Amino acid sequence: MRFGILTGGGDCPGLNAVIRAVVRSAVLHGDEVVGFRDGWGGLIDGNCEELPIERVAGILPRGGTILGTSRRAALEQRELVVQRFHEQRLDGLIAVGGNGTLCAASELSAELPIVGVPKTIDNDIRGTDRTFGFDTAVHIAAGAIDRLHTTAESHYRNLIVEVMGRNAGWIALHAGLAGGADVILVPERPFDVGEVAERVLARRARGRGFSIIVVAEGAVVRGGTTLTKGRLDPMGRPLLGGIGHWLEQELEERTKAETRVVVLGHMQRGGTATAYDRVLASRMGQRAHLAAHEGRFGTMAALRGPSIELVPLALAAGPPNLVPDMELDLAEAFLG
Ligand code: F6P
Repeated sequence: MRFGILTGGGDCPGLNAVIRAVVRSAVLHGDEVVGFRDGWGGLIDGNCEELPIERVAGILPRGGTILGTSRRAALEQRELVVQRFHEQRLDGLIAVGGNGTLCAASELSAELPIVGVPKTIDNDIRGTDRTFGFDTAVHIAAGAIDRLHTTAESHYRNLIVEVMGRNAGWIALHAGLAGGADVILVPERPFDVGEVAERVLARRARGRGFSIIVVAEGAVVRGGTTLTKGRLDPMGRPLLGGIGHWLEQELEERTKAETRVVVLGHMQRGGTATAYDRVLASRMGQRAHLAAHEGRFGTMAALRGPSIELVPLALAAGPPNLVPDMELDLAEAFLG
């Protein structure tokens, strides 16, 4: 059999591990794999390459994706996508992506045999307990918080760490807990800046002369709206940014203490994946190939408890997987 694979949306540590796993599993079962370049763009433009086992040698620890990625929309070019699929004489397509890529995959699976693999550092895809890339992003952000602790302490400053997370605060919550943050602000719970300042002041009154505040890029002030850069990404979504800098000014004024912001941005997405993410990505890639080989299309390889299972692809197209209230409430015990 012959299968296509593409990686779409923002890149994410672990993508190369998925591609490698798909190819290795395919070779084991006598199948061929074709890699489409730059997400759906590869199918639209007919830009692809054969992926023999030699092509995936040595890519496991490499960040990014050897296939390239993009946020090009597939549905506006639906006929072309279907035509290219058949031109390549494919028996199925493995689409590795986040909400945007998997939404399109889910729509297209009415016409094409598709298996999805969920990826995003944000960990906000429904249907899977975890996405690969998340562990790496948390590791990087927690490491940054550790470093910022010592400089914040030496200068008696408030240090704000802005992390990624459009809709969900998973990275902020886990990195904040791992790094011992004093305040964690997430999109799920709009906040009051006066209350944040009070927390910081209360800590100072207890003799702790510095504070670490972790804020997700999508966090919002109560009654306010998400801060953006005033530009759109290729999918037409607003580019987020500004909440960390806004907080910097507000907290410096309200606490009368020097305040600095560090925006971690794409540092969280670049570079090699953690061992956990490499293993998760490899397991998902292998499961996705086997699903395609067995003809189980319209599904997505997902982590459910300890196992990789097949769930309906349509799940990924639904609303994002947000941090539940219970987890946010539990975190309160460790803050301040
Ligand atoms: O979806 C993952 C993500 O990392 C978001 O947290 C972030 O808003 C977005 O990608 C930014 O991606 P880019 O800079 O590539 O548009």
